[in-house]
Amino acid sequence: MEQNSVSAPKPVSASQTVMTELMIPAYANFGGKIHGGILLSLMDKAAYACAAKHAGGYCVTVSVEGVEFKAPVAVGELVSIHASVNYVGRTSLVIGMRVTSENVETGMVKHTNTSYFTMVAKDKSGEPTPVPALLLENKEDARRFLEAMKRKELKAQFKDEFDNEKSRLKIDSELHLLAAERCVISF
Ligand SMILES: CC(C)(COP(=O)(O)OP(=O)(O)OC[C@H]1O[C@@H](n2cnc3c(N)ncnc32)[C@H](O)[C@@H]1OP(=O)(O)O)[C@@H](O)C(=O)NCCC(=O)NCCS
Repeated sequence: MEQNSVSAPKPVSASQTVMTELMIPAYANFGGKIHGGILLSLMDKAAYACAAKHAGGYCVTVSVEGVEFKAPVAVGELVSIHASVNYVGRTSLVIGMRVTSENVETGMVKHTNTSYFTMVAKDKSGEPTPVPALLLENKEDARRFLEAMKRKELKAQFKDEFDNEKSRLKIDSELHLLAAERCVISF
């Protein structure tokens, strides 16, 4: 029987996950297109499967990046999520997911979104627990790891800058900025 060891690095390929699901009418909105929340839920499951395989145990979703739906998905299409570990920290993992939707009658496959879910491995008492290092077997693995590091750095930078902006915001002196916007001040 294989044993999970935190000290042994695991290759990206060991936890790569593909999930395909048929888009049924219950998933659709009044316009016949699939709710974004359904796709998010499927992505969350794929991210969990991929993260739990790498971590060798229970993981939770902490944050979601890059959710931008570029094309609508219709009832009857097959949605596939290709998930792989892009990055690992001490207890966290970033799962990159490419989502496509296929019309089996026409054979057309569209790329709907590429998103990144940060997951954290938890131990039995609910505390974050270390995950195995990631074995990068090719340049693609290394590129994804480096990109995830950049995203993490830029996200922290953005958070700092935005927090600063928020703390400096003076409502009364900036109300004039709303004049060109599509809103009406009624106070
Ligand atoms: C995420 C959570 C585990 C962080 O707990 P914490 O006590 O702050 O733990 P730590 O500060 O040790 O952080 C643990 C890891 O999470 C990462 N992390 C924490 N907040 C993060 C965020 N907002 N975005 C990305 N990573 C984050 C840390 O960088 C750290 O990673 P590392 O060990 O690889 O360096 C905790 O807030 C939690 O359990 N949240 C609820 C998650 C959940 O239940 N999700 C399901 C939604 S219902």
